[in-house]
Amino acid sequence: MPELRIEAVVNGRKVARNAQPYQRLLDFLRDDMHLTGTKDGCGAGECGACSVFVDGVLMKSCLIPVGKAQGSKIETVEGLARKGDLSILQKAFHKTGASQCGYCIPGMVMAATAALRVNPFADREEIKERLGGNICRCTGYQKIFDAVELARDVQNGRLPVTALAETEVADGKYIGANVRRLDAPGKVSGALKYAGDMTMPHMLHLQVLRSPHPHALIESIDTSEAEAMEGVEGVITAADVPGEDGFGVFVHDQPVMARGKVRYVGEAVAAVAAEDVVTARRALAKIKVVYKPLPALFDPFEAMKPGAPVIHDYAPDNITKHIPIRKGDIEKGFAQSDLVVEQDYETQAIEHAYLEPEAGLGYVDADGVVTIVSPSQNITHHRHMLAKIIKKPIAKVRFIMSPVGGGFGGKEDMIYQGMLALMAMKTGRPVRLVFTREESIATTAKRHPSRTTLRMGLTRDGRIQALSLKMICDGGAYGLSTEGVMRKAAILGAGPYAIPNVQVDTYGIYTNNTPSGAFRSFGALQTQFATESHLDICAERLGLDPFEIRRINAMRDGAETHTKQKLKSVSYLRVLEAAERASHWEKGAPVSRGGARRDFARDGEGVRAPCTLGARFSEDGKLEAAE
Ligand code: FES
Ligand code: FES
Repeated sequence: MPELRIEAVVNGRKVARNAQPYQRLLDFLRDDMHLTGTKDGCGAGECGACSVFVDGVLMKSCLIPVGKAQGSKIETVEGLARKGDLSILQKAFHKTGASQCGYCIPGMVMAATAALRVNPFADREEIKERLGGNICRCTGYQKIFDAVELARDVQNGRLPVTALAETEVADGKYIGANVRRLDAPGKVSGALKYAGDMTMPHMLHLQVLRSPHPHALIESIDTSEAEAMEGVEGVITAADVPGEDGFGVFVHDQPVMARGKVRYVGEAVAAVAAEDVVTARRALAKIKVVYKPLPALFDPFEAMKPGAPVIHDYAPDNITKHIPIRKGDIEKGFAQSDLVVEQDYETQAIEHAYLEPEAGLGYVDADGVVTIVSPSQNITHHRHMLAKIIKKPIAKVRFIMSPVGGGFGGKEDMIYQGMLALMAMKTGRPVRLVFTREESIATTAKRHPSRTTLRMGLTRDGRIQALSLKMICDGGAYGLSTEGVMRKAAILGAGPYAIPNVQVDTYGIYTNNTPSGAFRSFGALQTQFATESHLDICAERLGLDPFEIRRINAMRDGAETHTKQKLKSVSYLRVLEAAERASHWEKGAPVSRGGARRDFARDGEGVRAPCTLGARFSEDGKLEAAE
């Protein structure tokens, strides 16, 4: 298709550029105009990170073919700050601390600008409504709404301009004080460069061929047609790895690209570097891989059965890690109990959904140092693993951590940096890889799905005598952080309770699902969900208040955990009391089966409003029904 000649006014400047007809306005702004404040969060019109004004109307540039921008006036976040002076809204975002990772913030600033242009007196509800097309994964939105209200009041003269002034800590006492966010100006202006915004001269674009099979042998890979394509500079497979081909946080069981076998749908099999992304994608279609499908496992309980297919030869039982902990005599504890309750609890896989998809740059510098720039949350460990993979001394490997546009544990794994290094070494040119949102969701680690069987024995007065907990987690196809997650789940699974007899077993199991990995709370969530829900059930059976049963069993100073750790300063009771006060808990309030309980949120007037999750309440706040 012939190129388009696009003439438009961008941020007040006339521009004329050739563009490809398949480009989106987003690509034109980012790749051709280098206006990378406009972000590509989802590419599907869902997140709002790509928001711009087209002829004064707020639009999502990922949904607009570049041809539609012909003759338009386009305004991006870079156009809001005049001569380097941030707009009132940008200053307000800075002042209220409305940015965390910052990836959504340029789009938020654009949507907020639109809101106040449409109605300079918009109230908080209208502001929320008008920002409804923009997603933030980090902030919880309140500070963003605060920022828009602050900007509105300054614009309307209700507040002086000094209300936007950044907080200064006068006496050097930073703890407990509001401090200036040094990184905010770059985030609210769109100037901060994330890995996917960075470019280098002569940079190539990497794309990855991924497995369509959950479990299959690779009989052959033919890359010759792809390599012969014009614009293709390199193709790599497992055969290009010169060193020890394995990475992972605890066990190095994952090759940079599948080696002889694929273990989940979406696993990297080969990668292409080309002059542009489109050519690289076309070349992927030319790579011929012959697979021999194997029986696949999608359920950890099936994977644990004798005779189940084996996913990794080194683990014939498909167990990635088993953490057993024993304290006291569990059977004696149950025998001494007046009430024994057993129940199963399940938690599901959860996607991190950071707004910034995975991205990175790899290059070999003038001194032969292989350098990776990426939002990795664990760069020192990555550096050591990569040195072994590419068989170079550690001094010849460098990792630079780019700004992380949300991680939540999901960027701890080195799932693509090895390909960038190998390709930079093979081609001698800088290489960039930016995941699509689909690629990010389909191929990266999730929170471990779990099933926990919990048995608790208590005496009539609510004292826990015995706790037995067995958790089976789906670790997916590779180990990643599974071992650490199992450890933390086991260590924290008994909760902050003094229990004389404890038996805990946590298992991470290999399956052919997408690998599971680190996620906020790192295993504690799964077991504590079970333990805390179980305590509510036991409290109900014993006719005790749920706060009271926790107080009865709470660890106090000097307590010893089931991992033999002596605790010197235990704040649990203070936390519990604060939670009780903050939740306006009424003693004796009903608890439903399965742990659904009455929750309260404060509205603006400080009036209690029942949360509707899993329960129905009458107008005066009484529980009517619980699921
Ligand atoms: Fe356009 Fe998400 S809405 S990138
Ligand atoms: Fe909004 Fe991180 S600050 S996504």
